[in-house]
Amino acid sequence: MKVLVTGGAGYIGSITAKALEEAGHVPVVLDSLLTGPHVFVRDRIFYEGDIADRALVTRIVEEHPDLEATIHMAARIVVPESVAQPYEYYRDNVAKSLELFDQLEQLGKPRVLFSSSASLYAVPHGTDDFEVTEAAPLAPGSPYARTKLMMEQVLEDMAAATDLRAIILRYFNPIGSDPDLESGIYAKEPSHVLGQLVMAARGQKDAFTITGTDNPTRDGTGIRDYVHVWDLARAHVRAVEKFDEVLAAVGEPSVVINIGTGAGVTVRELVAAFEKVFGREVPTREAPSRPGDVPGAFANVDRAHELLGWHHELSIEDAIASALAWGEKRQEILGYE
Ligand SMILES: NC(=O)c1ccc[n+]([C@@H]2O[C@H](COP(=O)([O-])OP(=O)(O)OC[C@H]3O[C@@H](n4cnc5c(N)ncnc54)[C@H](O)[C@@H]3O)[C@@H](O)[C@H]2O)c1
Repeated sequence: MKVLVTGGAGYIGSITAKALEEAGHVPVVLDSLLTGPHVFVRDRIFYEGDIADRALVTRIVEEHPDLEATIHMAARIVVPESVAQPYEYYRDNVAKSLELFDQLEQLGKPRVLFSSSASLYAVPHGTDDFEVTEAAPLAPGSPYARTKLMMEQVLEDMAAATDLRAIILRYFNPIGSDPDLESGIYAKEPSHVLGQLVMAARGQKDAFTITGTDNPTRDGTGIRDYVHVWDLARAHVRAVEKFDEVLAAVGEPSVVINIGTGAGVTVRELVAAFEKVFGREVPTREAPSRPGDVPGAFANVDRAHELLGWHHELSIEDAIASALAWGEKRQEILGYE
C-alpha cells in the first residue's frame, strides 16, 4: 500500500519509511526540510514543502490516488525551544496540522496516524509505580507537549464529526538508528540522554552528567522507557496495515496507543548497559535535578499488544550498539560530526 509520511526526512520518519518499504509498501514523503536532512529522503518519492500547503497536498493526492493512509510526523520537537518560541510551535504543530487534516478529509483520505508523546503524562506523585496506561492522567509540561495534546483532542473531535479516522501513537523514548545505518540522530549536539552518553564515550564531552539523584525511583535517577526506533517504525507499519481493524475493535473513530517496551530503565541502569556494550567505563558526574525535571514513566503496552499485535523485539543493548555505530558513521552521511 502507498502511505504519505509527513516529516519523512526526519529521524523517525526516515526509518519508518524504510520499515514500510521492507514490508512491501511505498512511502510518499512530504517534508519541508525545516530540520530533516535531504540525504535521509534517499531515492524515495519526495515532495519538498509544507504540510499546510493545501495545493501541494492536493497535488500529492492527485498524483497518488492510491494513498491509503497518512502518517503525520512533521513537527517541531525541541522542548526548550518550544518554551522560548511558543508561537512557532503552536503555528507549526497545531495550526498547520489542522490545515493538513482538513485537507486530507476533504480529499477523501481519512486515515491518519499521529505521532504523539509520552511527555503528555502526569508524573505519578507519591508512588513508586511509574507505569502508565493510556487512561492515566495527563499534564503536558511544555508548549511542545501541549501542542501534542491539542492535536490529540483535535483528531478526536474531527473523527467524531467527520469521516476522518485517527490512530494516535504515544511514543515513549525512541533511541538507536536505522538497522543499515542510513539514518539516525542528526542534531549537531544531541540533547537527549543517549546522545550525551555517546559524546562522553567518544571524548567529545569530558563527562556524562547524571541529572537528579533524589527521585523516588529504585536508584534515585530518572526512569524512562527506551524503545528502539526500528521497533517504533515497525509499530507504524502494523498500525497502517490494521488501521480499520483496530478502530473496528475499539468501536471508536479514534484511539490512543502507547508505544514502548513496557519496562522502565533508570539513568544509572542506562549508563551500566551502555558501558557493557561500549566495553569501557564512561566518566560521569552527578548534578541536582533542574526545575521541571520529572522522575519519568514507562508504558503499559497491553493495548499495543492487543490491537496491533505489536511488541518490541530489540533490546536496549541493541539500541545502544546501533546508536554507537551510527555515531561512527554519521559524519560520512551527514557531512558533519
Ligand atoms: N524523537 C523523539 O524522542 C519523539 C518522541 C515522541 C514523539 N515524537 C514525535 O515524532 C515525530 C518525529 O520526530 P523526530 O524525532 O523524527 O523529529 P525530526 O525533527 O527529526 O522530524 C520532523 C520532520 O518534520 C519536518 N517538518 C517540520 N515542520 C514541517 C512542516 N510544517 N511541513 C513539512 N515538514 C515539516 C522536519 O523537516 C523534520 O524532517 C514528531 O512529531 C515528534 O513530535 C518524537
